[in-house]
Amino acid sequence: MSPEGSGAYGGFPHVRPRRLRTTAAMRRMVAETRVHPADLILPAFVREGIDEPVPVGSMPGVVQHSRDSLRRAAVEAVEAGVSGLMLFGVPLEKDAVGSQGTHPDGILQQALRDVRSEVGDDLVLMSDLCLDEFTDHGHCGVLDARGRVDNDATLERYAEMALVQADAGAHMLGPSGMMDGQVGYVRAALDAAGHQDVSMFAYTVKYTSAFYGPFREAVASSLSGDRTTYQQDPANGREALRELALDVAEGADMVMVKPGLPYLDVLRDVAEEARVPVGVYQISGEYAMVEAAAEKGWIDRERAILETLTSFKRAGASTILTYWAVEAARLLRAAG
Ligand code: PBG
Repeated sequence: MSPEGSGAYGGFPHVRPRRLRTTAAMRRMVAETRVHPADLILPAFVREGIDEPVPVGSMPGVVQHSRDSLRRAAVEAVEAGVSGLMLFGVPLEKDAVGSQGTHPDGILQQALRDVRSEVGDDLVLMSDLCLDEFTDHGHCGVLDARGRVDNDATLERYAEMALVQADAGAHMLGPSGMMDGQVGYVRAALDAAGHQDVSMFAYTVKYTSAFYGPFREAVASSLSGDRTTYQQDPANGREALRELALDVAEGADMVMVKPGLPYLDVLRDVAEEARVPVGVYQISGEYAMVEAAAEKGWIDRERAILETLTSFKRAGASTILTYWAVEAARLLRAAG
């Protein structure tokens, strides 16, 4: 037997990394990554014309809020220590240009005013800056005569949306439509209207993903077809860095990678390159996947949730949008 170890062959193990895993206190001491409630942002849906929240079937635990239940959810989020709320509106009326997205009394604008008056500056109030919740064809922009998404005509609609959202009290806008030039165009419109302090959390890297499925139910999307002409191809990593350079040059205050779990490599690349804070969006299908497996008893739900959040921070995100934000914040606080 060799002096270094007990093994019969070559004296292995020579080194024992397991020493740092022996007790919970030891593991806690050497943990490199910690998730904090302040890292978390809650995405929430508010639907026009309902008095009681309506459950989203494919996202157990998530609802379409009424205006009242959204106010309560915002207070809960603040109490749990969550940093922000990202609002999505579900209007009664949809049309080709998404008129409700720019109406000063559209559901999203009303909800922004409600939440801002309820919680003030205690959380960062964000709104989705995209047309797909408001258009009857379900695309993120307006269509040209041949039915294609018209990039530059859409920018004008985004600028109008940005102004009504900023007027309604949003602190931060989330342009998520993947139109070229959207960040710069909206930034210029905000500045021209005196909204210099309204910031932008750009959906910089956004892939065409099968994992958006449950979200489409949550916003009652009528999309037929797909978003392959504007969202990124899952096969590509390089263009993520191109989109990053463009969005930062155009004035993005923060940048986002979306979805999360299937794109941790991209998140790492973006986090290494970016000189602005980097967020990640753990999307509806990622949520549904864990909830469904947990419901079947196939995985430990809480451990799985915290493990996914930890993976995002380890990959370089400082901010995480997750439908579990409030519950996770409570779990993290309870764990100390
Ligand atoms: C576009 C938008 C989408 C999501 C957030 N913003 C839908 C899409 O791009 O198809 C998806 C979020 C999720 O799946 O949780 N407004």
